[in-house]
Amino acid sequence: MIHVNALRKNFADTPVLKGLSCDIAPQEVVCVIGPSGSGKSTFLRCLNGLESIEGGEVWVNGLPVQDPKTDLNALRQRVGMVFQRFNLFPHMTVLENLIMAPMDVRGVSRADAIREAKRLLEKVGLADKIDAWPSSLSGGQQQRVAIARALAMTPEIMLFDEPTSALDPELVGEVLSVMKTLAQEGMTMVIVTHEMAFAREVADRVLFIDQGVIQEADTPEVIFTHPANPRTAAFLSKVLK
Ligand SMILES: Nc1ncnc2c1ncn2[C@@H]1O[C@H](COP(=O)(O)OP(=O)(O)OP(=O)(O)O)[C@@H](O)[C@H]1O
Ligand SMILES: [Mg+2]
Repeated sequence: MIHVNALRKNFADTPVLKGLSCDIAPQEVVCVIGPSGSGKSTFLRCLNGLESIEGGEVWVNGLPVQDPKTDLNALRQRVGMVFQRFNLFPHMTVLENLIMAPMDVRGVSRADAIREAKRLLEKVGLADKIDAWPSSLSGGQQQRVAIARALAMTPEIMLFDEPTSALDPELVGEVLSVMKTLAQEGMTMVIVTHEMAFAREVADRVLFIDQGVIQEADTPEVIFTHPANPRTAAFLSKVLK
């Protein structure tokens, strides 16, 4: 589903990704962990063509992201992305947020888009908020709407960049639980997260990124109990107190 080979990305002259490689299978749930500034968000952004790259290859769902001939809008329709800060359109109700892209981009009829929006709001536990304005929702509710909105495009892959790190602690669980359901349903997911317990429970594989490369990629069991790379161990000893 995702093939990354020797990916290099610089900002100005500073290398941020320095030859990063990985393969992600259909239906795999991969959590990405690592220190701040190590390149996790940059890596995710490269997966749906939000960054130009200096070298290497990124293939997503059979499409060469680095190829100038690739239609990035078509790619992004198949790759949903949810960021740390909720990016709902503030001037639209929850329903309007969910139906806009399917109608405008995919040409879905209004009736079908509304039917699907209702189903997705049910799924994320917010059926009663269909006519609410984003500003009237809690952070956790907004983030669940953001997930529903991404799902409304029927993506084949979902990318999450620290979807819970801007939330009050008591709201984290409701968002993680929606993500857990998606994982169980077989969605291919790449999740940058600081929620180590979640990564341990939900991930098929954990990637530890440091200094612009994947230092270690293995099952949560190995990563969290007996990592092979001393850097992984050092990072985890700091975050798992
Ligand atoms: N648009 C940009 N312009 C210049 N430098 C950038 C840009 N985006 C990221 N960087 C730099 O690239 C490096 C990697 O950033 P990135 O956001 O990928 O890190 P991260 O691992 O996601 O960190 P965090 O855990 O804090 O979110 C950092 O040194 C950052 O300052
Ligand atoms: Mg980041």
